Amino acid sequence: MTNKYYSVKPVLDNKLPQVFIETYGCQMNVSDSEVVLSVLQKCGYALCDKIENADLILLNTCSIRDNAEQRIWGRLENFKILKKKKRTLIVGILGCMAERLKEELLSHQVVDLVAGPDTYRDLPNLIAALTSGDKQINTLLSQEETYADISPVRMDKNGVSAFISIMRGCNNMCSYCVVPYVRGAERSRDPKSIMREARELFENGYKEISLLGQNVDSYHWSNPDNPTHKVSFAELLEMIALIDPKLRVRFSTSHPKDMANSVLYTMAMYQNICNHIHLPVQSGSDAILERMNRKYTRAEYLARVAKIREILPTSTISTDMIAGFCGETEEDHLDSLSIMRDVGYYTAFMFQYSERPNTKAARHYPDDVPAETKARRLNEIIALQNELSLKSNQADIGKEFEVLVEGFSKRSKSDLLGRTSQNKVCIFPAGDHKIGDYVTVKVLSCSSATLKGVEVV
Ligand code: 5AD
Ligand code: SF4
Repeated sequence: MTNKYYSVKPVLDNKLPQVFIETYGCQMNVSDSEVVLSVLQKCGYALCDKIENADLILLNTCSIRDNAEQRIWGRLENFKILKKKKRTLIVGILGCMAERLKEELLSHQVVDLVAGPDTYRDLPNLIAALTSGDKQINTLLSQEETYADISPVRMDKNGVSAFISIMRGCNNMCSYCVVPYVRGAERSRDPKSIMREARELFENGYKEISLLGQNVDSYHWSNPDNPTHKVSFAELLEMIALIDPKLRVRFSTSHPKDMANSVLYTMAMYQNICNHIHLPVQSGSDAILERMNRKYTRAEYLARVAKIREILPTSTISTDMIAGFCGETEEDHLDSLSIMRDVGYYTAFMFQYSERPNTKAARHYPDDVPAETKARRLNEIIALQNELSLKSNQADIGKEFEVLVEGFSKRSKSDLLGRTSQNKVCIFPAGDHKIGDYVTVKVLSCSSATLKGVEVV
């Protein structure tokens, strides 16, 4: 083992064995792939950007819905040709699907190794053991692993915004969700290591950090040497915000049952903590929320939203919605539409319910909403969200926002693209600005997805 290849950015060197990493699913998987690259660089691999050049292909997979898994099975079929061309090519499956399907994945013709989300330190050993000719698997889940001491190698393109995982796993047991089974029990990461990583990113030119956890509000750390020394999520947020006022901080995901007022007050105190809260409601019906085991009612959720509006009047709120959960009636669906209107989400991630094997919902509730009804309800949810997004953006016309530039507009190289503190995408003429600059922009027009404006001089 050597630290020679340690760096925040990937080491590109085509004389070394080449690894290609393909990441599916959520931001947590993106963050995990960066840990994986760090582990692999330390054992002599370099990242390659063309799959044809790879000696090792790793798919970091997602199990959250059935279609995410179907994509991976399809992808594996494509690798048959690559394997024929290069007999020494190694194909490994990481992430949630590795954890869920274990040997079933390993028995696929092209798969050489399967490694679950808590086993990435073991990858060098698993790869080395392949020389025996046997396929390798490790899917042990851990109560402690947080990869706290591993500095992730950033694979983002812009060098401006990066993710930091502050915890792993989930203890919530929402009845539809496979995450607690595939990512294990919740554990929080040592705040010292989070601070080290955040400072290192800032020193390397990063301007925005997103703190990630399945439920950031249940982040809690007690110092094992001094159990009276505890750190809550609000305290962690403040510690990160104090690194530098030019370092923006975001976080995700907040759970409506746990989000504390202290987090809202901390957000209000620091201008560099972004004014955006991702607060998944999933459904607007009390009967469905109960069956989902979300542990809040519609009224409690709306009370949380009212508190956010009171303490953070300029904050945006986004959500996740599930259409067609077990037993969902037309009335329940109308409740979902009405809560979306009541809150006025600026954006949403919207899904049809997909039954996941062995979850509480799969064991106890029939998946009884017909496919076409699920699809129609989802379409109605999406159509409403488009209206709400447009309305939210239109309300910004004439206002000024500080935009952190992330890149160029896809349509025109003379326009820059960035985000407001509220997480809205904003496009404006570049002038002399570059990626990583903060620019004050006045909004002149919008679509449902984008604000358009000009720099305020
Ligand atoms: N079916 C559909 N959507 C799901 N989600 C989680 N599990 C399922 C499922 N079985 C959605 C939830 C969650 C988001 C990450 O994915 O909305 O918040
Ligand atoms: Fe899944 Fe619920 Fe945990 Fe989110 S909070 S990961 S939806 S179990």
